[in-house]
Amino acid sequence: MKKIIIMVALSLSLFKAQADEGMWLPMLLGQQVYADMVKKGLKLTKEQLYSINKSSLKDAIIIFGGGCTGEIVSSQGLIFTNHHCGYSAISGASTVEHNYLRDGFYAYNKGQEIKSGLTVQFLDRIVDVTKEVEDQLKGLSWADRVKKIGDVYKAITDKVADKENELAGRIYPMFKGNQHIMYVYKTYRDIRLVGAPPESVGKFGGDTDNWEWPRHTGDFSVFRVYTSKDGKPTPYSADNVPLKPKHFLPVSIKGIKDGDFAMIYGYPGGTTRYETSYGIKLKNEIENPSLVGLRDVRLKLMHEQMIKDPAVKLKLADNYAGVANYWKFFDGETKQLIKYKVFDEKQAFENKFNAWAKGKPEYENIMADYAKNYAAWTPYSKMRQYLNEGILGSPLAGNASRLISLETVLLKSSTTAADLKKAVDAATAARAAFKESEDLPSDEKILASTAMMFYNDVDKNQHPIGFYEGIKNAYGSLNDEATFKAWAKDVFAKTMMLDDAKWKAFSDAPTAAALQEDPAFAYAAAFTKNYTSKYVSLRTDFMNKNDELGRAYLKGIMEMNPAAVNKMYPDANFSMRVSYGNVKSYNPRDAVHYDYVCTGKGILEKYVPGDYEFDLPAKQVELFKKKDFGQYIDKGRNDLVVSFITTNDITGGNSGSPVIDGNGNLIGLAFDGNYEALSHKIAFDKDLNRTINVDVRYVLWCIDKLGGAKNIIDELKLVR
Ligand code: ARG
Repeated sequence: MKKIIIMVALSLSLFKAQADEGMWLPMLLGQQVYADMVKKGLKLTKEQLYSINKSSLKDAIIIFGGGCTGEIVSSQGLIFTNHHCGYSAISGASTVEHNYLRDGFYAYNKGQEIKSGLTVQFLDRIVDVTKEVEDQLKGLSWADRVKKIGDVYKAITDKVADKENELAGRIYPMFKGNQHIMYVYKTYRDIRLVGAPPESVGKFGGDTDNWEWPRHTGDFSVFRVYTSKDGKPTPYSADNVPLKPKHFLPVSIKGIKDGDFAMIYGYPGGTTRYETSYGIKLKNEIENPSLVGLRDVRLKLMHEQMIKDPAVKLKLADNYAGVANYWKFFDGETKQLIKYKVFDEKQAFENKFNAWAKGKPEYENIMADYAKNYAAWTPYSKMRQYLNEGILGSPLAGNASRLISLETVLLKSSTTAADLKKAVDAATAARAAFKESEDLPSDEKILASTAMMFYNDVDKNQHPIGFYEGIKNAYGSLNDEATFKAWAKDVFAKTMMLDDAKWKAFSDAPTAAALQEDPAFAYAAAFTKNYTSKYVSLRTDFMNKNDELGRAYLKGIMEMNPAAVNKMYPDANFSMRVSYGNVKSYNPRDAVHYDYVCTGKGILEKYVPGDYEFDLPAKQVELFKKKDFGQYIDKGRNDLVVSFITTNDITGGNSGSPVIDGNGNLIGLAFDGNYEALSHKIAFDKDLNRTINVDVRYVLWCIDKLGGAKNIIDELKLVR
């Protein structure tokens, strides 16, 4: 009896979503899930959530840029997303003289909006193509399946592709390849920057507060979609007109209270909720600590320069933000995985799975095969992290490594003059882009430090042959930091990547020999080729085997408990999902209670004049002190609510997602997760998981009172 109870308890967490766990496909919302949404406070019909014939909520949700979510909030194609999602467009539009990143920016009429290189994608429809795909893969070995699946997908997406209307299909394997779902997207390419708060507001609290609650960040920015006069997607043109959307979200300034229903639509990038104990062990012991240690060093060296000079800060800001964001994430992830004993939990489940699988040939060896597969790859995983996060983490080395493709062209006997010219031109353009964001002092130190860390930390048998001996012969002891510094200094002084005259001489008469002699190229190529020639195939085998085992494992899990299958959801993979839950406070640890909102009072408490992360615009301090909150005030608190938390299940990629109330109105923008639940990619914690959202009333206050852009407010449909 006891045994059975334990089994059921353990199984539940893997079998079905608990509490507000779940990233649901908007098209395939089961009746059970929909009924639960209604119970929690949803007032909309299924058709209002997702429909392909009528306009529905999904028509207001977009993929923003390469990895974020945005939402349409006016009849003229206005987009709200996060500040950190618009960050590269904002910093890219900035100069030291017109520093929109630092000072903020608002277009007071459409003529002032700034062209960006961004694209956005609208979801046209979702189609289940599982049968079509599987019919063509039936009976194939795993290796043949892997070889063929790309072509099978392509044949299906080719049928729906419509270049003229910018429609394209993408097929996502769901439930580890047990299901195949096609999403058809329409891409728009004329996206303009409309507004952004000063960075002191949009990134208030910086990396200190990142991934943490309480949080006082005004993490929003505003863009607009433009189309041709007949409403079609088209590249930028001065004649283009604002998009007329199928649906846009009304904006509610009624305010929120603890327990309110909250729904988040968006594009969660990735989760691995069915990860095995083997994967968690590798992550905790090797992958995460290696990445964190290497990024730690790179970040410190960049930061040293950024605080000295606004021009350097602008150059490095975008790259720095991305590296820092996931440095803190992966550090916290492992801390939480250990704290919550997720490894033990997974292992216990795997033991139960094994007991069930015994005597079932399809399943009984899965766990043993996982063990073998991880044992084969683990010895090389540190080297791979040190290559990607260390050696190639130097911008010079990272960019030099991309010249390997030029080397290949130079070495190939069949290369035509036209091929060569194309390759050289591409390299010249890439070099120019690299130079624009290159900060020499920090990069030279990064080069030296990461080369030394690789030397010290990675198994000597896996070093590129001869490389470190070469440094030793020319510069001295490898146990001395000065050796690496002297070597790095020479690389920087001599490489054509940083010398225009040398690059011109090379690109006028390119040869493989000249490229190979370049010290930056020689360095980057030695490490990269060491990996590609000896280890990449091991990595591919490892990944393929994991995919094969994962598909079978998940099928087994579903078979083990068929009753729970309709409460399962597939891992996030940057396809549109909906998550629902409530506004809710929490207790992060003994004796500590976290309220569900942060307010203007807290902003002033954190404010440190002149600080790198906690400064504020003078005007904001003044308006706050006067309590000039206008119609955005929270009357009960006599203050401005700046952010709130909900129990929604989201992850990176959801940034910028709308938080929607039970009636379909926008109440906030999701922008982060809390520290206590940083293990969320692997295990959702039903007590501690929270999504951090900027309150839409604070967004509007910033636009209106701080930015003076009433024109933007006037476009919205406010619900009071
Ligand atoms: N952690 C947030 C996310 O991944 C990004 C926040 C950006 N802010 C920052 N200080 N790096 O969505």
